[in-house]
Amino acid sequence: MKPWSNSEQRYGMVAIVLHWAMGALIVGLLALGFYMVSLPDAGFDTEKITLILVHKALGMLALLLLLLRFAWRLRSALPRLVDGLPDWQQVAARFVHLMFYALMFALPVTGWLMSSAGGYPVPFFSFFNMPDLIGLNEWLFQVLIEVHRWLAWLLLLFLVLHAAAALRHHFGLRDDTLQRMLP
Ligand code: HEM
Ligand code: HEM
Repeated sequence: MKPWSNSEQRYGMVAIVLHWAMGALIVGLLALGFYMVSLPDAGFDTEKITLILVHKALGMLALLLLLLRFAWRLRSALPRLVDGLPDWQQVAARFVHLMFYALMFALPVTGWLMSSAGGYPVPFFSFFNMPDLIGLNEWLFQVLIEVHRWLAWLLLLFLVLHAAAALRHHFGLRDDTLQRMLP
């Protein structure tokens, strides 16, 4: 089995690099998102606006990486879950992974839709601006801000469960759940 592909027992290098790179990016986006909205509005050219622009660009990068990850996921079968896992835990683990894929898609897309509805640009760093997805719509702009916020809280909730489960397997049950997601 090629080391860059998943095997029956463990994740391959591509899945591992994408998992941890995107993990760090998403944790960073959550922290940055909650921090930047807590800053006061103080006209143009503020720290808040700069951070929002960084947040948008990193969020679009997350969407790009997700497309790569999803394509890889389709061609590289998942390893089996560790042996002896009760049925409900197998379902819970797979459900959380599925929700992560849905949320990693829904968050950037609601962010992008929100910016289009509000008439704000979505620059991809200083390279180019993403096209608007929809026209100006103040009502939808406000709704999408709320949806984006609730999706972020949902992602944070699943992240706490996911990381707690990984640590419990590693330190409590001492099986190789975490080990096989490490290089
Ligand atoms: C996985 C990717 C993303 C995550 C995890 C994320 C997370 C967050 C979080 C936690 C907040 C603060 C929510 C609040 O308390 O109000 C936020 C706000 C925001 N996000 Fe994202 N975001 C992502 C992608 C994007 C993208 C791609 C865009 C735009 C293209 C975007 C635009 C915004 C904007 C404009 C706000 C401020 C909304 C406001 O004015 O209250 N986000 N995001
Ligand atoms: C504190 C950070 C994290 C830890 C300790 C961690 C740990 C793990 C472990 C051990 C696995 C393998 C589980 C198995 O199949 O046996 C896994 C899989 C997975 N993790 Fe994480 N993870 C973390 C953060 C994240 C984040 C932020 C995301 C995305 C939002 C994420 C998404 C996934 C997904 C989707 C899988 C299933 C495999 C795949 O399709 O790539 N993880 N994680």
